[in-house]
Amino acid sequence: MGLYAMTGGATGIGAALKEQLLAAGHEVISVDIKEGDVIADLSTAEGREAAIAGIRERAPEGLEGFIACAGLPPVARPLSLIAQVNYFAVVATVEGVKDLVAMRRGTVLIVASNSAPMISREDPFVEACLAGDEAAACAHVETRDGQTAYGGSKRAITAWMRRNVVPYARAGVRMNAVAPGITQTPLSDQVMADDELGPAIQEFGKMVPWGGTAQPAQIANVMRFLLSEESDFVCGSVFFVDGGSDAMLRSDEF
Ligand code: NAI
Repeated sequence: MGLYAMTGGATGIGAALKEQLLAAGHEVISVDIKEGDVIADLSTAEGREAAIAGIRERAPEGLEGFIACAGLPPVARPLSLIAQVNYFAVVATVEGVKDLVAMRRGTVLIVASNSAPMISREDPFVEACLAGDEAAACAHVETRDGQTAYGGSKRAITAWMRRNVVPYARAGVRMNAVAPGITQTPLSDQVMADDELGPAIQEFGKMVPWGGTAQPAQIANVMRFLLSEESDFVCGSVFFVDGGSDAMLRSDEF
């Protein structure tokens, strides 16, 4: 059985994955701002350092996997929090535990979103994230709206994953991303309750080809597969788990 570390294990998709991993007999180190083995605010440099130190202390002999799941919704304010948690904290924590994952030839799994392809790779916020300039990205994102801030953070982290697949694989780390569609969690509850975004998201939910919205366990099922040895040749994939929404919107892109 394996040892996994994850961020965002307190609620929603992360909590469902944690439950499934524990039920399968694995051990899980959970990092979250709310509750977990390591309490850390990943929006700050100190919180990221505490998260990495807490994981390193509990996994001196390495990890089978690291899952970067913590994230904030488009309604989070200030918008710079979206850049900090959804992009810069993911890069910092993945890099901070990379050697632990390599020790066991393990897996990194990033939770992106099916909203990522809706934002251009040339978007200035995406560019600032990929340049690693947190101050510039945070300043720029304050000029945007919640949806493009959120989608941009997910576009950037997906591109970062793809750009780093080769060096990570050569170092002994298999890296992938999962791109969920609308999933019933505290995060989507906040979006649904928003006067501006709520009605649009509810309408979009009605258009999902396979019907409806996902339960967290449906996303976690695929994540568990991507972490398992059964997927040990899956490397660099962006795995859409969205009831066909991405295929509906971008039929010719893959
Ligand atoms: P959630 O709100 O239930 O879970 C997010 C977790 O991240 C929570 O446990 C929260 O405490 C933690 N977190 C937030 N800010 C933090 C911080 N500063 N430091 C440490 N931990 C922090 O939401 P959900 O939906 O389970 O989200 C999980 C991931 O899935 C996120 O990355 C989200 O962007 C992504 N996602 C969610 C979708 C949805 O419709 N629910 C769709 C596509 C992607």
